Amino acid sequence: MSRYLIIGGNSQLGINLAEQLRKQEKSPDIWITNRNSKPHQQKKEIYLDLHKPYLPDYAFEYTFFCAGMTSVAQCEQQPEKARQCNFINTVKLTQALSKAGSKIIFPSSSLVFDGQHARYQPEESPKPMTIYGQYKAVAESEILNLSKKNMVIRLSKILPHDYALFKHWIKQLKMGQSISAFYNLTIAPITMEFACQQIIGLTKKNATGIWHISAKTDISYYDIAQYIADSLHKNKQLVHRESAKDKLVFSPKFSSLDASKTDKKLSNNTPDSWQVIKEIIGRMI
Ligand SMILES: NC(=O)c1ccc[n+]([C@@H]2O[C@H](COP(=O)([O-])OP(=O)(O)OC[C@H]3O[C@@H](n4cnc5c(N)ncnc54)[C@H](OP(=O)(O)O)[C@@H]3O)[C@@H](O)[C@H]2O)c1
Repeated sequence: MSRYLIIGGNSQLGINLAEQLRKQEKSPDIWITNRNSKPHQQKKEIYLDLHKPYLPDYAFEYTFFCAGMTSVAQCEQQPEKARQCNFINTVKLTQALSKAGSKIIFPSSSLVFDGQHARYQPEESPKPMTIYGQYKAVAESEILNLSKKNMVIRLSKILPHDYALFKHWIKQLKMGQSISAFYNLTIAPITMEFACQQIIGLTKKNATGIWHISAKTDISYYDIAQYIADSLHKNKQLVHRESAKDKLVFSPKFSSLDASKTDKKLSNNTPDSWQVIKEIIGRMI
């Protein structure tokens, strides 16, 4: 039986990866790390703070590295903390785990690119525009250099089934109140279930190197908000156009990744972006 380690067991991705593994395998041996100072040994919890990177000497076949500073804004505000957490100590830990024989699966992001065109290929050179993207890109490269069996999986925007922003918009629109949505910020959304299914699929197929998981096309938050208003039979004029440039550190024109290599490997088809939005919104309203 394989032994899995999920670093960042309380991350959205970590929680859902564990859940999917439990659905797919009969009593999988899953260990998680979190920042609980009194970890539950029986629940296979291990204490880990990325600022003091230490892990006990257990052997794991697979490590999903889901912990880190995931807010782009926070990384810009605290660049040294981001460097220590998302690069220096991430690499230190993966080095030790790799040396002990674990395959590292490192979720990365479309933010390693500059967002100037759609459907980035896995082999394109990173050109990060943010501190978050910069440390993702260097960590990717170091982790791949540690062992030929390691894997980097770049993900586009993952939408959980209870995505807070959409919940808020639905609530406002239902009350007849206006909302604002970015017209110049796009996503190529994937569901959490799909992201986990693909990550586990690639892991079980012993994939190595760089892989992409993303919907095919980029759609703007404004277009999504209009779709929500329409689905609720509300006046679309309640949705106001807002510029992301005034609000965000970085607003890429495009964030889609080309996932055709992943689709081919797993013999499946990445869903269309609107199909994903319709599925998520359909469940929420
Ligand atoms: N979600 C997406 O759309 C998306 C897209 C592309 C890539 N990714 C990547 O996928 C991975 C997981 O993303 P996510 O959205 O699931 O993350 P998340 O929900 O924001 O969770 C981040 C996790 O990192 C942990 N963490 C933060 N600082 C830490 C520290 N100093 N020491 C130990 N743990 C620390 C947090 O622990 P606490 O629970 O204790 O706070 C939390 O469990 C990340 O690498 C992210 O960059 C996510």
